[in-house]
Amino acid sequence: MSNRDTLFSAPINKLGDWTFDERVAEVFPDMIQRSVPGYSNIISMIGMLAERFVKANTQVYDLGCSLGAATLSVRRSLQAEGCKIIAVDNSPAMIERCRRHIDAFRAATPVEVIEADIRHLPIENASMVVLNFTLQFLAPDDRLTLLQRIYQGLNPGGALVLSEKFSFEDTDVGELLFNMHHDFKRANGYSELEISQKRSMLENVMLTDSVETHKARLRQAGFEHSELWFQCFNFGSLVALKAG
Ligand SMILES: C[S@@+](CC[C@H](N)C(=O)[O-])C[C@H]1O[C@@H](n2cnc3c(N)ncnc32)[C@H](O)[C@@H]1O
Repeated sequence: MSNRDTLFSAPINKLGDWTFDERVAEVFPDMIQRSVPGYSNIISMIGMLAERFVKANTQVYDLGCSLGAATLSVRRSLQAEGCKIIAVDNSPAMIERCRRHIDAFRAATPVEVIEADIRHLPIENASMVVLNFTLQFLAPDDRLTLLQRIYQGLNPGGALVLSEKFSFEDTDVGELLFNMHHDFKRANGYSELEISQKRSMLENVMLTDSVETHKARLRQAGFEHSELWFQCFNFGSLVALKAG
């Protein structure tokens, strides 16, 4: 059972920038579930995508794995033999809990949990790479380079799953989806104070792109195909393919 997220329920004097520290790691499953519309659908469908894309004797990368939810979903669905999942995060608090989480379930496919910065991680022999709500935390200037390295590390026919919070070029639609996301958080028990304190902490560290910007960047990185396969309000997930 995950602890309930009450981190921002009382007024905080000096709101600093957001970090994935011990306190966040402790409540993370509850926080992401109550903040990201469609999160559990995306997690279980990452498993379905893995069934389709992961080939025998290849590697799957879960970049910015937090507690390993996508890794576990992939591992549960894997049919292919001789595979390895590499789960990476640069937050020591997340990695420590992720290791415990993964070890709590037994399965045939090995998982290597690595504490590292995904910007410097070698990627090779990959049939699938997952960036589930992680790219948005990288500085915009670092995003293309990472996608290029992912493209190069993927085998032909491999897939990248890229889930993000989106901004919108159409301001009316942007405002509607922003407000619906706000309603979603209210309906999940977050107060106005919690919502606004969390928003200001994330403001400088989570810079969102539009779906169009993502698609253009994926193309620039080399991906021959990309499309949105899931969206709920201003959150969604793209799949990008390296030609076979
Ligand atoms: C919103 S969480 C991802 C959620 C997770 N993928 C899931 O499906 O539950 C973003 C994660 O990315 C990690 N992260 C951010 N920048 C990173 C970097 N440069 N290298 C490695 N991990 C990073 C954070 O520590 C955090 O755990």
